[in-house]
Amino acid sequence: MIKSHESIRNLLQLAPGTAVTARGWVKTRRDSKGVHFIQINDGSCLKDLQVVMEADRAPADLIAKVTTGACIRVEGEMVESPGKGQAVELRGHSLELLGAAPPESYPLQKKKHTLETLREFGHFRARSNTFGAVFRVRNALAFAVHKFFQERGFLYVHTPILTTSDAEGAGAMFQVTTLDLSNPPRLPTTGAIDYSQDFFGKPAYLTVSGQLEAEIFALAFSNVYTFGPTFRAENSNTPRHLAEFWMIEPEMAFCDLTGNMELAEEFLKYLITYVMDHCAADLEFFQQRYEPDLLATLEHVASSDFVRLPYTEAVKILSQASRQWEFPVAWGNDLQSEHERYLTEETFRKPVIVTDYPKQIKAFYMRLNEDGKTVRAMDVLAPGIGEIIGGSQREEREEVLVARIRELGLKEEDYWWYLDLRRYGGVEHSGFGLGFERMMMYVTGMKNIRDVIPFPRTPGHADF
Ligand code: 4AD
Ligand code: MG
Repeated sequence: MIKSHESIRNLLQLAPGTAVTARGWVKTRRDSKGVHFIQINDGSCLKDLQVVMEADRAPADLIAKVTTGACIRVEGEMVESPGKGQAVELRGHSLELLGAAPPESYPLQKKKHTLETLREFGHFRARSNTFGAVFRVRNALAFAVHKFFQERGFLYVHTPILTTSDAEGAGAMFQVTTLDLSNPPRLPTTGAIDYSQDFFGKPAYLTVSGQLEAEIFALAFSNVYTFGPTFRAENSNTPRHLAEFWMIEPEMAFCDLTGNMELAEEFLKYLITYVMDHCAADLEFFQQRYEPDLLATLEHVASSDFVRLPYTEAVKILSQASRQWEFPVAWGNDLQSEHERYLTEETFRKPVIVTDYPKQIKAFYMRLNEDGKTVRAMDVLAPGIGEIIGGSQREEREEVLVARIRELGLKEEDYWWYLDLRRYGGVEHSGFGLGFERMMMYVTGMKNIRDVIPFPRTPGHADF
């Protein structure tokens, strides 16, 4: 195991003259005038450690195996580096090959690869500069999520992954079964599959959201959050959709839509600031390689007030815009990506919180407004990404909720416990869900959601 003081991140801070052992994977090797220059990286930081080794220190047949992707261990001494790009380098005294990577077959040679190619090598892409930076930022961002809520007294609750309820009432769920699919048991009467013989005695699914269970906990612990994997069987092949993604869902009792919006804005700004403070080198890399405006955009968002815009106003702005929409703008239609982009990138040039959507395009649990037509929904839209957060004040009035469930053709009995929360000790409450990968796209400037999650699952793809 590499102890933290032996990581390359730490070695690069050492004073010249210190004796060290370094381990890592070879990025490149260059031989010049009887000296080998080997760049190694162990994932602890973006920068490689340069190992400089005189030819007589290692046999030629050993050095020949020190190729891109190989794993090596070097003992030596840190010295001042005469070269550009680093203050210190490692003068190697001895070298051990821990794992060769035969160049004739190792797929990631030192030339640059496209992100699409790297996706096919999901087992090696984490060794590249880009994915090293992506996953260090992901690690920091996940930590910041917990830090934010823990500092504010929110209880972290683990909501179930296997579930028998549809939290969004949208039916985009992956079914989980242990029945023999080639010969499932059937009811003698109708011939339908007999789920009483399935593992849970009824149909079960992977969760689409932990919200409904988080509500149970909010009505006992006041302020709670979940942070876990969620699954959606929507067949959307876009750069913003995954079949498996991570979601953060806070839920607060004694909180209305305004409190919900305030928390969402504070949360996003906190995450951005945390990553800027803790991942500066990685963000600079993204700016240089992928998104020239990254740091300016993040600074701008962290320091400006988000726009708050009722849906009806948004439709007004969009219908007055002088442009051809692919999807028609009309009150009652959902906002499409082109509309969200227009609002955030052209009208306001910052995040916009759209509120009070028509009830027919939102989930059953959102609180109905006095107009009977709109609900206390909020979507946070971000430039370049579109919807990053979806949330609402919840319907706490039992009769209104029952009416909505019926109106949408959902089964009241499936939600018996959810309705009980309204019958016993119910109170005003609100919450939202932040798509973790959408946030990752935002802070890294990466354009495809498949490149900010370790192992993307999308229609037709579940490798590794
Ligand atoms: O808007 P959504 O569907 O809201 C909910 O699931 C609520 N239960 C949240 C709540 O109020 N507790 O999803 C929330 C967020 C979206 O705004 C988006 O960022 C992300 O989850 N998201 C996806 N991210 C990647 N791939 C997908 N297929 C996503 N679907 C939603
Ligand atoms: Mg949504």
